[in-house]
Amino acid sequence: MRILVTGAAGFMGSHLVDYLIKQEKHEIFAVDDLSGGYTDNVNPKAYFTMLDLRNRKKTEKYVSEVKPELLYYLAADASEGRSQFTPISSTERNYLAYMYTFIPCIKYGLKKVVVTSSMSVYGAQKPPFSERLAKKPEDIYGIVKAAMEDATEILSKVHNFNYTIVRPHNVYGPKQNLADPYRNVIAIFINCILNNKHFYIYGDGNQKRAFTYIDDFTPYFVQTGFKDSCNGEIINIGPKEEYTINELAEVVLDVFFPTGNIPKHLKPRYLPMRPQEVKEAYCTNDKAVNLLGYKTTVPFREGIKKMIAWAKSVGPKKFKYLEYGVELATKDLPKTWSDKLI
Ligand SMILES: NC(=O)c1ccc[n+]([C@@H]2O[C@H](COP(=O)([O-])OP(=O)(O)OC[C@H]3O[C@@H](n4cnc5c(N)ncnc54)[C@H](O)[C@@H]3O)[C@@H](O)[C@H]2O)c1
Repeated sequence: MRILVTGAAGFMGSHLVDYLIKQEKHEIFAVDDLSGGYTDNVNPKAYFTMLDLRNRKKTEKYVSEVKPELLYYLAADASEGRSQFTPISSTERNYLAYMYTFIPCIKYGLKKVVVTSSMSVYGAQKPPFSERLAKKPEDIYGIVKAAMEDATEILSKVHNFNYTIVRPHNVYGPKQNLADPYRNVIAIFINCILNNKHFYIYGDGNQKRAFTYIDDFTPYFVQTGFKDSCNGEIINIGPKEEYTINELAEVVLDVFFPTGNIPKHLKPRYLPMRPQEVKEAYCTNDKAVNLLGYKTTVPFREGIKKMIAWAKSVGPKKFKYLEYGVELATKDLPKTWSDKLI
């Protein structure tokens, strides 16, 4: 099969490409504009093209040449917390770039699309979120992910292709961008410590989240593209267990300082909650268990240990803020970003 992976130089996209290449069954086409990913992440056996999918003409031309049968769509500006301050970027890099890729794909013979959506579409409803819940996003990122889902469902009724929508939780592990100050809480905590700085926790740290080590995500994610039983389905992928951000902080610090002697200057500090951040976001996974045989194999602490070992091997990174700042630098912009605190 001719498979196109977008966001292939990013964290989850590059793991997906590695997994597909290992299968030695398919031709893998990989695109990314390197706004958040790295060429080093991309498996050399994939046909990689640097392409900004917001460029409609170039994207149409590229798709007309590749003619993918299966599309895994991961390219994104995935900064959920920042999306209230960069709503245009969120719309362009998520919804619009998707349309610019997806529509030509349909035109040139697409058989199936796997859309990487997000838990953010559930918003502030009572967790654990089941796929049966209606979408009620609380933030711009959630709105555009919900729109991507809806557009996919509607177009599939009119045009002849299959789809699966995947809603991951917080996924973490090697190859995650350590330099992004806007997202990936685990990567931020770890990179701060590697830089010999304390990290910040928004709110009281009692927000609850579920976390998935990348090796417990990719194999199931791959399957969704091939299994007929996944056609037309929305699937949460990840473990059920939830942790507070304070618990996460404790585990990270404990792995770095197993004797319990945390240097005073590395103790976490607290800042106000970010606007529109939901208190609790974790989900059911019965559907993933039934359809994909989902099983957690890397427990939380083990995953954090592996991630820290990898981060130590690549060394500390300087946090990279948006070159031209955010679109709405108002008083509610978290201090971490306005004052470049990390
Ligand atoms: N990591 C998570 O915890 C998580 C959770 C839920 C959903 N998701 C979704 O999964 C997908 C992958 O996330 P990730 O964590 O690997 O993020 P990532 O930032 O590592 O990967 C996204 C990639 O998309 C690329 N990209 C952005 N705009 C582009 C454009 N206009 N044209 C081409 N490429 C572009 C970036 O350069 C980056 O490499 C995203 O769609 C994200 O919304 C991630």
